[in-house]
Amino acid sequence: AGTLGSAATAKGRYFGAAVSAQYLGESGYVSTLNREFSSVTPENEMKWDAVEANRNTFTFGSADRIVSHAQSRGMSVRGHTLVWHSQLPGWVAGLGAADLRSAMNHHITTVMRHYKGKVLAWDVVNEAFQDGGSGARRSSPFQDKLGNGFIEEAFRTARAADPAAKLCYNDYNTDGVNPKSNAVYAMVKDFKARGVPIDCVGFQSHFNSASPVPSDYRANLQRFADLGVDVQITELDIEGSGGAQATAYGNVVNACLAVSRCTGITVWGVTDKYSWRSSGTPLLFDGNYTKKPAYDAVLAAL
Ligand code: XIL
Repeated sequence: AGTLGSAATAKGRYFGAAVSAQYLGESGYVSTLNREFSSVTPENEMKWDAVEANRNTFTFGSADRIVSHAQSRGMSVRGHTLVWHSQLPGWVAGLGAADLRSAMNHHITTVMRHYKGKVLAWDVVNEAFQDGGSGARRSSPFQDKLGNGFIEEAFRTARAADPAAKLCYNDYNTDGVNPKSNAVYAMVKDFKARGVPIDCVGFQSHFNSASPVPSDYRANLQRFADLGVDVQITELDIEGSGGAQATAYGNVVNACLAVSRCTGITVWGVTDKYSWRSSGTPLLFDGNYTKKPAYDAVLAAL
């Protein structure tokens, strides 16, 4: 097949991109998106500060534009993200525990009901674990006021809001086997053992020279899959250029394809010129929407 999306479809996967509503009027952006990708993730438009900047006032306009674009083109949507310490409006951090719990559950329920039937998988909780060797939870208003149980509560609330949506835990620096991924693994294992609803684990996969594609990437994806969840590569970008970048991208695709429960790959942007990593060139298309060697490597691996 001649595009990323169609090649992935032939392998029973999706190939997605993070999309920003502000670029949906740019012809090169839209034509590349429409031609190559079979899934979209709103890059910022579904985050708490975008949809509920003020308590109980929900603004879905920008996210709706992305979702309707995807629907009209037959692309699936990843919902990102419901509960996260970042891009969180200040009012949330100011709440006491009981109020915070009800605000969290109301946020999850309202956003998921709005998109019911339109979002294939949700990142219900994002980045709840610390970096480093402790395996501990990251400090956040949710963690600090509600304790470890906030993650379980968020997933139970999410299942009730849209029973058909796949519910994912998503994080970074969990791509290889390390203390942080071990801690997420233990949580998922516990959730599966106790019947807490979780369907998938997202591996952000933001790679650079300090944090390259781990040699045990495939093995790590596989051990999570063996717990009975799907795995997805959710925010892939790889700093660098040329052949080295292309090889790394090919390795990522090969790792996913080697794991039958790896159901899709999302790159964190369409073009280098709009990457969140403004100093780098981490994506598959350059600023003129020309295919890079990394693109050819991904298509060849699919
Ligand atoms: C980033 C976006 O790409 C930026 O535009 C924004 O300014 C900050 O957030 N992990 C995540 C994503 O889960 O939501 C982040 O996206 C990148 C890191």
